[in-house]
Amino acid sequence: MIHSYSLIMSSHKRSLSLMLLTGQLVALAAAGPPYCLPGSPCYPSEASWSQFNATVGGRLIKTTPYGAPCYAATYNADECLSLAQNKGKLAFRDSLPAALMYTNWEQTADLSGCPVPDLPTDGSAPPPVNAICTLGGMSNYVVNATGVDDIVASVQWAATFNLRFRIKNTGHCYAGRSAGEGSFSVWTVHMNDAELVDDFVPKATSLAPQTVISAGPGVNVGGLYKFGSDNGVVTIGGFTQTVGASGGYILGGGTGPLGPKFGLGVDNVVQFEVVMADGSRHTVNEALKPDLFWALRGGGGAFAVVTRAYIKTYPAFKTVNTVSGQVVCQDNSSYGEMISVMVDLQVAARNANQTGIWETDPATRGLALVSFATFTGDAETVDQSLAVYHPITIVPGCQPFLATGQFNGSGSWLAAYNNVVPILDAGGTVGLNLFSTSRLISNDLINDPAGREKIKQFIITSPVPTIIQNAVGGATNQVSPDATAVNPGWRNVFAFMDGPIAGPWQGITATQNATLEALSTSQTATFGTAVYYNEQQPANVDWQDSQWGSNYPRLLSIKRKVDPNGVFSCRNCVGSEAGF
Ligand SMILES: Cc1cc2nc3c(=O)[nH]c(=O)nc-3n(C[C@H](O)[C@H](O)[C@H](O)COP(=O)(O)OP(=O)(O)OC[C@H]3O[C@@H](n4cnc5c(N)ncnc54)[C@H](O)[C@@H]3O)c2cc1C
Ligand SMILES: *[C@@H]1O[C@H](CO)[C@@H](O)[C@H](O)[C@H]1NC(C)=O
Ligand SMILES: *[C@@H]1O[C@H](CO)[C@@H](O)[C@H](O)[C@H]1NC(C)=O
Ligand SMILES: *[C@@H]1O[C@H](CO)[C@@H](O)[C@H](O)[C@H]1NC(C)=O
Ligand SMILES: *[C@@H]1O[C@H](CO)[C@@H](O)[C@H](O)[C@H]1NC(C)=O
Ligand SMILES: *[C@@H]1O[C@H](CO)[C@@H](O)[C@H](O)[C@H]1NC(C)=O
Ligand SMILES: *[C@@H]1O[C@H](CO)[C@@H](O)[C@H](O)[C@H]1NC(C)=O
Repeated sequence: MIHSYSLIMSSHKRSLSLMLLTGQLVALAAAGPPYCLPGSPCYPSEASWSQFNATVGGRLIKTTPYGAPCYAATYNADECLSLAQNKGKLAFRDSLPAALMYTNWEQTADLSGCPVPDLPTDGSAPPPVNAICTLGGMSNYVVNATGVDDIVASVQWAATFNLRFRIKNTGHCYAGRSAGEGSFSVWTVHMNDAELVDDFVPKATSLAPQTVISAGPGVNVGGLYKFGSDNGVVTIGGFTQTVGASGGYILGGGTGPLGPKFGLGVDNVVQFEVVMADGSRHTVNEALKPDLFWALRGGGGAFAVVTRAYIKTYPAFKTVNTVSGQVVCQDNSSYGEMISVMVDLQVAARNANQTGIWETDPATRGLALVSFATFTGDAETVDQSLAVYHPITIVPGCQPFLATGQFNGSGSWLAAYNNVVPILDAGGTVGLNLFSTSRLISNDLINDPAGREKIKQFIITSPVPTIIQNAVGGATNQVSPDATAVNPGWRNVFAFMDGPIAGPWQGITATQNATLEALSTSQTATFGTAVYYNEQQPANVDWQDSQWGSNYPRLLSIKRKVDPNGVFSCRNCVGSEAGF
């Protein structure tokens, strides 16, 4: 195997080498899980890795655990202090080839890894950790891709050796799908170019020309909003700036503040460019590979590597209003009343075109809120926007700290978004051990008084924060349930909820697991079993059904056709029953 690979590498004709390699892949038809892992005789030698490095322009990284300076054998107080100070910063984590946003997935199930301790309260360097520091769940080798050729070479390399292969973009996945012990990954986060294309017609279709943003796989939400603003357009996108807008976000659904206006991320992509499991490059849209196009819109990252997404744009808003801040209550009964009032006003807020996100904090009996109202014509005043939330500001025993903002002109969306980013970032702390478990909140449930009562009781009694994204429904409900691969439940959804369950920096504890199980049980009793694929930690639910419902059988059959050898795999991804 290694011999023939060297042969290919020494060929100067790329097309010939692709043909040879494709032939070899056919011969390896038995490949798939269990994958060839480091330490096994099938694993490439250092010399082979070096040869491979030359084919990716020297962009192959042999990774080391970034937390090493905090461990006794490799301790360095200054470096450890800096790690402890920076580990919660999104940009810092984004810059590391072998790190995720949540550290629990950086470790293996038996807690092997190299997590960075918390910063001591006095601000000094954490003392040395007396434990072995290992790569844990992170990749041993990473290609820091700068172009599609790097991705083609990486996929072919993984397929040739039957490596455990991962596509890592920003590492935001709550299910650790972009990592895996002993894996080899292609890192796409730096392929973040964007281009505005006027009069774009998806190849081979007769769709009406439209203006789209052609986005590399590393373009993130903040980047997409900024690029749109610079070009006088708006697009879908999430709440957090660093989420990969054309990677995992759009492949798994894609929700955000503009959802009720424009739909899910999957409803806003008109074409992809991909690298398939055999290393071939293809354009995918409703006319070209329509089954794959369907699967990529909600089926997640198990079908192909997306190298470009063409995302719909809309004319810039004239005005965007924001309402944001907190309401904090002095005791449990006033907190319970405030939550009850907040749940009751959700439908009215949506009818008033407010969309946003709110998060409870049972520990401080508070609620943090970000809400947007967007206008293409005459705008309402900020006082009119604020009035929607008036009921939670007058609950006896609770104190409101709500602020408003108004932004006009073609940059109004970005300005409004930037205005509330500090609150969003504060609510989405990273660099810690955290599970997230979600459920969809259907229109039927929220519109039924008994359903609203159940939702209130769930939130009031939850031992952990509850995050409600009042940012779906509307346009997301105007798409047929089988038009894309997302759970059909999204097409009759009002909002969705997440329950974050944090644990200590050392790793997952039995208590954390038990809290997850208990929370999941009460979520199912309240909301049912449908979850958001991108924000999910399976517990007590059938992951295939809860993530995709009746769309799963079709997804699995497409997976078997486009990736018969299981080159692409990840936890609780389509086809992962076979191993990942
Ligand atoms: C703080 C925070 C805030 C969030 N906010 C939102 C939000 O507002 N709205 C929302 O919808 N979601 C949100 N999410 C969830 C987010 O959508 C998921 O974490 C998503 O998986 C991120 O995709 P990524 O590419 O950035 O991350 P990664 O972890 O790098 O990748 C996630 C998955 O996608 C696959 N993948 C990535 N790129 C590609 C590619 N080019 N081709 C094929 N597969 C690929 C990976 O293999 C992996 O399976 C948030 C997550 C966090 C941590
Ligand atoms: C790949 O090549 C570059 C440039 O020569 C080098 O810096 C890097 O260390 C190499 N990576 C590996 C894993 O050998
Ligand atoms: C990855 O490549 C980008 C350029 O595309 C570079 O800026 C960055 O420093 C590289 N990261 C690492 C860890 O090598
Ligand atoms: C308030 O609720 C919390 C969480 O449910 C509970 O721990 C606490 O004991 C309650 N306090 C009072 C005064 O009832
Ligand atoms: C909400 O938006 C819709 C669609 O733009 C509009 O018809 C309606 O009047 C708006 N409602 C309010 C209360 O502004
Ligand atoms: C936005 O435009 C409206 C209508 O022209 C105007 O009344 C309002 O004062 C403007 N707001 C800001 C913040 O400039
Ligand atoms: C938590 O649950 C996971 C999955 O069931 C398991 O692998 C792990 O060992 C558990 N951890 C602890 C500390 O109980």
